[in-house]
Amino acid sequence: MPKTQAYFISAENVAKENARVGGDVHKVNVANVIELGELELRDVGPKDVYMRILAASGEHNIDHAAMADTVNIAEARGGKMYPGNSAVGEVLSVGSEVTKFKEGDVVITHCNGEPDEYGYPLRIWAYDQPDSIGWYSKEAVVEEWQLVKAPLDCGLNLWEIAALPLRAPTAYHLWRRGLGIYRIKVSREQKAILNVLGFGGGVSELFLQLAKAEGHNAFFCSGSPARREALESQGIVGIDQKQFNRFADKGDVKAFSKEVKKLTGGEGMHIVCDMLRGPVWPAGFAVAARQGVNVSAGWQLSQVIDYNSTIASVKQLTIDHTHYETPPGCDAATELYGRVFRPTVHSEIYAFEDLPRSFEEMHQNTQTGIPIIRVAKDLPESLKSRTD
Ligand SMILES: NC(=O)c1ccc[n+]([C@@H]2O[C@H](COP(=O)([O-])OP(=O)(O)OC[C@H]3O[C@@H](n4cnc5c(N)ncnc54)[C@H](OP(=O)(O)O)[C@@H]3O)[C@@H](O)[C@H]2O)c1
Repeated sequence: MPKTQAYFISAENVAKENARVGGDVHKVNVANVIELGELELRDVGPKDVYMRILAASGEHNIDHAAMADTVNIAEARGGKMYPGNSAVGEVLSVGSEVTKFKEGDVVITHCNGEPDEYGYPLRIWAYDQPDSIGWYSKEAVVEEWQLVKAPLDCGLNLWEIAALPLRAPTAYHLWRRGLGIYRIKVSREQKAILNVLGFGGGVSELFLQLAKAEGHNAFFCSGSPARREALESQGIVGIDQKQFNRFADKGDVKAFSKEVKKLTGGEGMHIVCDMLRGPVWPAGFAVAARQGVNVSAGWQLSQVIDYNSTIASVKQLTIDHTHYETPPGCDAATELYGRVFRPTVHSEIYAFEDLPRSFEEMHQNTQTGIPIIRVAKDLPESLKSRTD
């Protein structure tokens, strides 16, 4: 059995940190919760791929796991979990029945841990899927169905490719759902160009890139000047969320509604992507156009929403919740790397040793884009020229 180094989160560390901050989750230092250890991987079975991880992106579920703010997932997983569900790797060897990959291939992962009868995930890999081991590790063994060939010629560099395996399929699914639902209500001949809004964050950025690529008006409401600037250079209109005090009270939401009316000729937003909830939710709800759709797969600032059902009925609004793409949907999203998806990457590429710090900085919301962790010091020949 191969041995590797892998980061883990233990219920013990979660409890220790919780005790240190006296139960105040706002004071939790995520870096104190995630720990590097030695892990024995399973033997490579006939359908398995053995790979070394080259780079991985920081994902928010680590934050949720460390804070135990949704569920105490480390505890639910028997006291310990190995996170990491978005990575680029190089195949070291394959099992006897593997047909899609061979030694030396560069691959990306998806995190659909267990598809339901329609392909949508019942559980997420390296989060709540039992026995799943994640990819914040030097090496990993995964089944062939969980990998996609990396689109090395898509025009993105290695770090940009590493930013996408989880966020791009999420955005792709949200977009096809939001647009599909809207089109049940309003046909293309009735309204060809839609107003589409997303609130800060990597998934929303990609969602807006899809909308823009299909000819719609896209608006990015974020508190980060660096992220707004990156999207503005792609023709996506930036709205400074801090100008509206991150919607701290009703007056801020009203002012935001007024601004959106101005930006959209009084019409409002036909599709809104809200991955954050919390104070962002009433703002997204308020600016919805008639027949509007509000899509989400997130819960960063709160898990519970409420709304005026009468207003929603009168405006014929639809609130939709998704989780993650099907494996074929992940393949389709990968086709759009570089053509549509051009992620903003945080200015520092973190070393493997600095992974805990990268998560604390993500928690503090001080990063200028999606955080990437370089796991392998030596890269395959095909990637050496693709790091800047
Ligand atoms: N179900 C799924 O498949 C799935 C997949 C990916 C993510 N998610 C969830 O979606 C959420 C966002 O993930 P992401 O990957 O898009 O995020 P991300 O790239 O890590 O960005 C997080 C964003 O949160 C915003 N933020 C942080 N604190 C805030 C505050 N106090 N008020 C307003 N905005 C704040 C920041 O926006 P500013 O630019 O405004 O500062 C930041 O850009 C997370 O909860 C994550 O777990 C779910």
